[in-house]
Amino acid sequence: MDQRSPQFLDRVDGIQKVTGKAKYSYEYDFPGMVYGVLAGSTIAKGTMTVIDTKAAANAPGVIEVITHLNCPEVPGYKRTPEQEKAPAIRQGYRVFSDNIIRFNGQPIALVIADTYERAVHAASLIKATYKEEQYNTDIHAAIKTGKPLEGNAYREYIRGEANAWQKAEVKIEAEYTMPIEVHNPMEIHGITIVWEGPDKVTLYEKTQALKSTQQNIMRAFGLKEENVRIITQFIGGAFGSAFNTWPHSMAALIGARKVQKPLKLSLRRDQMFTHVGYRPQAIQKLAMGATKEGKLTGITHNAMAMTCSFNEFTEGIVNGSRSLYACPNVNTSYKVYPLDLGQPTWMRGPGETTGAYALECAMDELAYAAGIDPLELRIRNYAETDLERNKPYSSKFLKECYQLGADKIKWHERNPQPRSTKEGEWWVGYGTGSGIFSAWRGDAKVAARFLPDGTFILQTGVTDMGPGTATAMTKLASDVLGLSAKNIKFEMGDTNLPPGPMQGGSGTTSTLGTAVNNVCVNIKKKLAELVKNNPVFHTATVHEAKAEDLLFEDGYMILASDKSRKVSYADAIRSAGLSQIEILESSERNPMANHSAFSYAVHFVKVKVHETTGVVKVVQAVAAVDAGKIVNELTAESQIIGSVVGGISMSLMEEGVIDHRYGRWVNNNFGDYHVAVNADVPHVDVLFVNKPDPVLNPIGSKGMGEVGMVGFAAALANAVFHATGKRVRELPITPDKLIG
Ligand code: MOS
Repeated sequence: MDQRSPQFLDRVDGIQKVTGKAKYSYEYDFPGMVYGVLAGSTIAKGTMTVIDTKAAANAPGVIEVITHLNCPEVPGYKRTPEQEKAPAIRQGYRVFSDNIIRFNGQPIALVIADTYERAVHAASLIKATYKEEQYNTDIHAAIKTGKPLEGNAYREYIRGEANAWQKAEVKIEAEYTMPIEVHNPMEIHGITIVWEGPDKVTLYEKTQALKSTQQNIMRAFGLKEENVRIITQFIGGAFGSAFNTWPHSMAALIGARKVQKPLKLSLRRDQMFTHVGYRPQAIQKLAMGATKEGKLTGITHNAMAMTCSFNEFTEGIVNGSRSLYACPNVNTSYKVYPLDLGQPTWMRGPGETTGAYALECAMDELAYAAGIDPLELRIRNYAETDLERNKPYSSKFLKECYQLGADKIKWHERNPQPRSTKEGEWWVGYGTGSGIFSAWRGDAKVAARFLPDGTFILQTGVTDMGPGTATAMTKLASDVLGLSAKNIKFEMGDTNLPPGPMQGGSGTTSTLGTAVNNVCVNIKKKLAELVKNNPVFHTATVHEAKAEDLLFEDGYMILASDKSRKVSYADAIRSAGLSQIEILESSERNPMANHSAFSYAVHFVKVKVHETTGVVKVVQAVAAVDAGKIVNELTAESQIIGSVVGGISMSLMEEGVIDHRYGRWVNNNFGDYHVAVNADVPHVDVLFVNKPDPVLNPIGSKGMGEVGMVGFAAALANAVFHATGKRVRELPITPDKLIG
């Protein structure tokens, strides 16, 4: 028996990670390895008229320099005449396919050399001449003079009456802004590539999505599926930056294929700001109205955000406002303006994190305007059904979250009056904010083998950017199968394995867990079948052991009516003369035709704000989460703590700064782009309702990858207001906004 509490399984790959044995995508080495380094444009928009690669090509150790002038043909780059006619924003951007510059820092050349240092040096010798065009990287300028994109993604939503808040007894109207935020995982994006011929490749790539990355590479190079193998054993964080097959990976693939040598390429930290996406900047106007008793009568949420000139990126910024509260009149709009910057992408809690910041700050403002406790206002507007989709929820334990969190932080013991509590030189305040994020289940396959030595092996092509997927799946298999976790091996991170789900969108556990559950349930049936005639189970009343007569515990089938009678799984396989039991099971997408499914989080934050310097210290954070049934409490708790850390970063520090005079990043390094470190993070209490969702999947789990981030920034901003009486409606809440 495991000595640990049955609720907790330590990370199965923890020792590999902390001892440096875990291998990340840039850490694979092969004989004859060469190194690729990208040179970037120094203007934001225009055409490159000359690119001088001579000095680079003649530099020591340089093997090849690739630009748009000599880039080998990439079959997938060819566009149909239809595609050619599409507007630039739908064309995407294919590295080295033309001389058009779309953003500052765009790759213009790949230098390949025999050492990394020589490649870096040679890349610095690349010189380009440009014909510059007028560009804009400023969303405010775009809103003033530009036109938002048009299409279905931008349709206004109206339920009941539009702008009903205007007639309300109590009303507020406010604008909230937040800057570009950048994923900035610890592990920089890196790739190692081995072409085994012009039509067969193995690559070690930082990706959250093995299958779609494989498909992208197959399409680009016209390869067969079995000839594109991707291995991703470990990821050092991603937060959404690793879904795409980014231009740097394509450049490296093109380069490695051309030089016919194993090649690796790593971005630099500054390139992490331009090459692998970011959370788009947003300006949001929220207006809300309620009766004097605090019943919402109208919510209007108008969001303006940005994308780049070559990719139409949209996300659900206003979606949470349609269903989080029971409000009869809701209207939302979403306008997106293209800017001359790199491509934005999904980032933790995409859309919802941005939207909930505004919605949940506005709820706080409305609560104070109505003279109602902010938590009470939320409870008075609790949505028992999804009014946007007119469907019941598959499960919703948001009320329980309110209760758990409020009790833990002693919400009702605070003085509700803003700027009323002081400890020494510090104003003290409490705030709350809620989060909502879709729960879903997709397709995945898992293969399993049970060996006669008692080892149970699970295999699937999923990757893990940090949540602990192997650990959670091992715990789940251990629970369902009745087998100690130390006998279970979870193998992943390879497209040669049956296709797993992507790691992301808060759907990995729900999806993969379903397949793992199905594997274990069916393995138990097969094991029971093997022992049905085993005399160990024959009693005066039982002559044939049926699965339902047996308990499956700790590696044994045990007769429920007489627990002294038992056979180990391993013995059952051995005595049947089998070399192994092998099965393949799937999860199928749950279309959720009759229900809406969401995970919920409620954050409570206690802050201290220094009266003269404006420094904000988070002194306590409580996150109460309804993510359905928790598969492994240890990794689940870590996941939410990580969200809170990200939330503190977002609220107080993170701010992507572009110098609009040059369309260039100013703070593209960890010295200037601040993220929360240990000293910024207090003890975080994570409380799970831990009640199963009965509809979404057989394991009862919803999802928690994103929801812990959603609503946090509002909770913190609201706490700062409660402490100081000052409403800062612009993230990040830096000291300069609080003094004077
Ligand atoms: Mo997340 S944005 O699903 O990595």
